[in-house]
Amino acid sequence: MTDIFDTLESEVRSYSRSWPAVFTRAEGARQWAEDGGEYVDFFAGAGALNYGHNNPAVMEPLIRYLQSGAVLHSLDMKTPAKREFLETFRDLILRPRHLDYRVMFPGPTGTNTVEAALKLARKVTGRQHILSFTNAFHGMTLGSLSVTGNSMKRQGAGIPLTNSSKIPYDDYLDGETPDLLWLERVLEDSGSGVDRPAAIIVETVQGEGGVRAARADWLRGLSELCRRHGILLIVDDVQAGCGRTGSFFSFEESGIVPDIVCLSKSISGSGLPMALTLFRPELDVWAPGEHNGTFRGNAPAFVTATAALRTYWADASFQNLLGGTVAQLQRWMQSIVAEVDGASIRGRGLLAGICFENPGTAERVAAESFASGLLVETSGPRNEVLKLMPPLTISTRDLDAGFEILAAAVRAQTREPEPAGV
Ligand SMILES: Cc1ncc(COP(=O)(O)O)c(C=O)c1O
Repeated sequence: MTDIFDTLESEVRSYSRSWPAVFTRAEGARQWAEDGGEYVDFFAGAGALNYGHNNPAVMEPLIRYLQSGAVLHSLDMKTPAKREFLETFRDLILRPRHLDYRVMFPGPTGTNTVEAALKLARKVTGRQHILSFTNAFHGMTLGSLSVTGNSMKRQGAGIPLTNSSKIPYDDYLDGETPDLLWLERVLEDSGSGVDRPAAIIVETVQGEGGVRAARADWLRGLSELCRRHGILLIVDDVQAGCGRTGSFFSFEESGIVPDIVCLSKSISGSGLPMALTLFRPELDVWAPGEHNGTFRGNAPAFVTATAALRTYWADASFQNLLGGTVAQLQRWMQSIVAEVDGASIRGRGLLAGICFENPGTAERVAAESFASGLLVETSGPRNEVLKLMPPLTISTRDLDAGFEILAAAVRAQTREPEPAGV
């Protein structure tokens, strides 16, 4: 049966094809559809709903704000909502981590903060070239696409994507050759013909590119290399940030301090659009208005962002709880991969994945999971990885319920066919 979504909405739509339900209501880690279907959510708005759907901790302040007659839209004008967010972000996130960053509000999406980061790196260094990694994903506007790996998405640009090159991500080669060896050599060799780049942009866990996690040692090596050669290091924490890997910033475990950090998705704490670009104060060479955008001052998002930070990041208790959720997720993933030849676990924290050897398995498992009441998507260049990204606030009950559906779907899709009758 066709509906208005099929007849009027562009062919470009994608999630509504894999999950053709009409979603009407959501709470925590569950969503309900118009036809009465109920779903456990292991997708979490592609990482925009780390604290779950309609979390009362962010909804109540938002409703009060909406009813108060306060300003909703403010470009980059001053508002109490923005003041409270900036003060809270400084006091609960930056200061306790000894991070000295300026806060820029670009447009409200992930690709907006990446574009701002690339532009700033080029302006600061006076160099054009940016290096990024195999299988990286940084967004769909031209600058972000130029540092993205996926060939289908890149072709969509319709023009050459220039001034960037790809280098091997952690463990891209044979596991024996150090991935950063080539770069180190060519940067040291004035005859290599390779110009020094303005910046290297990296995801500590590649969310879209197959849920690959870089090792802490590798990240430290990359950071050192950047420092030695005067290259800016940009960490794109759009998907892996805001607690997803077990700490607020995904790079905390490695101890590195990037020059520029991109945040979006869950920074608003509610699913409302919001993004930040953070950078060392010395890099703040913008002229006023040199990079702007109409939707930088989304006050309702500031309100929910502030509430989320106060609720979850005022002390270590939420982060400690996350450890338990990660352990439960790991146990389930281990029991699933133990039953499937060649399956392996990917990711870090609650940005996790199960990689299947046979092409098509992950997609079939995701489709069967949807039919049984679980939202789970695939990732990787061949969609070979099931990407498991429940809200960080998911209850043990909902996590078990989702995994029971998933384990049954994996079993059904990987079981050897019965031998023909004798
Ligand atoms: C690491 C990373 N950067 C940037 C983006 C782009 O974000 P948006 O879709 O909000 O533009 C994404 C989206 O998935 C992402 O995962």
